[in-house]
Amino acid sequence: MDFTNISEQMRGRLQAILPALRASHGVSTADGLPPVDVSIAENELLRTEMLDLTKAAINAHLQPKDLAYPEGFGGDPELLASLARFFNAHFQPANPVEPGHILATSGAGNALDALLCAVCNDGDRVLVAGPCWEGFAPYFRIHANVTPVFVTAPSLDAATRAGILDALMAAYHGDEDPGRIKAVVLTNPNNPLGRCYDPEVLRECLRFCNLHDLHLISDEVYALSSFRTDPNSAPFTSVLSLPDVGDSGASSTQASRVHVVWSLSKDLGCGGLRLGCIVSQANAALRLGSGLASFWQVSSLASVLATAVLNSAGLDDLLQRNSEALRESYERLTDGLTRLGLQYIPATHGMFVFAKLIAGACTAPEEAAAVEKLARLGLIVAPGQRFSPGGAECGWIRITFAVVPERISRVLEVLAQFQSLQE
Ligand SMILES: Cc1ncc(COP(=O)(O)O)c(C=O)c1O
Repeated sequence: MDFTNISEQMRGRLQAILPALRASHGVSTADGLPPVDVSIAENELLRTEMLDLTKAAINAHLQPKDLAYPEGFGGDPELLASLARFFNAHFQPANPVEPGHILATSGAGNALDALLCAVCNDGDRVLVAGPCWEGFAPYFRIHANVTPVFVTAPSLDAATRAGILDALMAAYHGDEDPGRIKAVVLTNPNNPLGRCYDPEVLRECLRFCNLHDLHLISDEVYALSSFRTDPNSAPFTSVLSLPDVGDSGASSTQASRVHVVWSLSKDLGCGGLRLGCIVSQANAALRLGSGLASFWQVSSLASVLATAVLNSAGLDDLLQRNSEALRESYERLTDGLTRLGLQYIPATHGMFVFAKLIAGACTAPEEAAAVEKLARLGLIVAPGQRFSPGGAECGWIRITFAVVPERISRVLEVLAQFQSLQE
């Protein structure tokens, strides 16, 4: 690629990001047929309901004013009010979320981007608890120019328990210049594990952040995609529900450094709407700064649709049916994985399963070769290494199960075919 006619700044950022972007594209099946792609974290199970709701919303609520430039600096006032009600109903905040605590953004990715522009200086670093979504690196680098430091626990089991805290502390204290680390980023429920952090881990993490003046950014985009049945598994705990968060008292610097990111992309299955938000309850300057960074990124059409969906009398019922559909699909996939003798991490949230494709130890190139082989057989999955850059055990894949039953059957067929070719 010829980088001559772009800025040096963008050249550097592109060169850092391109290897990851290239790795996620460019596979084709041996017979040229379109493969089954279960590598994207999308929920197709809600599509019909969401389509009906959004079409009705346009008919009932779209007004001439929605064709003008949007009202309100942090987002449409009606949207912010409906988001506040939503968080108060579903995230159990320690202090009620007010519309003024919320900034609407164009999806959760844009929310993270805007947040980092407001909390970091050019070239700062943030600690990112792994494994995590591969999109963090590009979003963190492209505008804010922040370097993510990926931190992994000693095992996948420890990744949402105390083990991740020790790893975060070790990364902080082992850094050559900890003063350049400005935040800890967590994904709760975790992508790709589909598990929640133990509430005690979240509390300790907040204490750690407070001790070192770090921001705590909790990406909670999978909060309500719950199909938890095991009472021994960690329930979802929003950082908004931790004591002291949301306290806007003058002394509460801790609360001023706690931020939640959410969007309609995952829990409501409409990533194409590009509607997300930041909830930050005690830092008006940060909301203003993030607002500048994402100013006018939200389309009025998306605001109208999101407001109607969030205000819909049928929302709770929809979320309940979504949970049931997710549980059914999860069981369909994991029953099949068990029949094939493939190990997986039991999940409680999200729309994917992290499964061990290659038993025992293996290397990153071996994992990549196996994933490519699957693609040639007609199945595209997300390779595990994508979620743990430079670390963690190899041989895992993430499979999205929020798809129609026929696609799950196809996934299992290809996995069986792959296994028979390995023998
Ligand atoms: C943890 C996490 N955060 C953010 C996003 C992006 O969300 P959005 O589509 O709302 O930008 C994703 C998408 O996969 C994700 O997994």
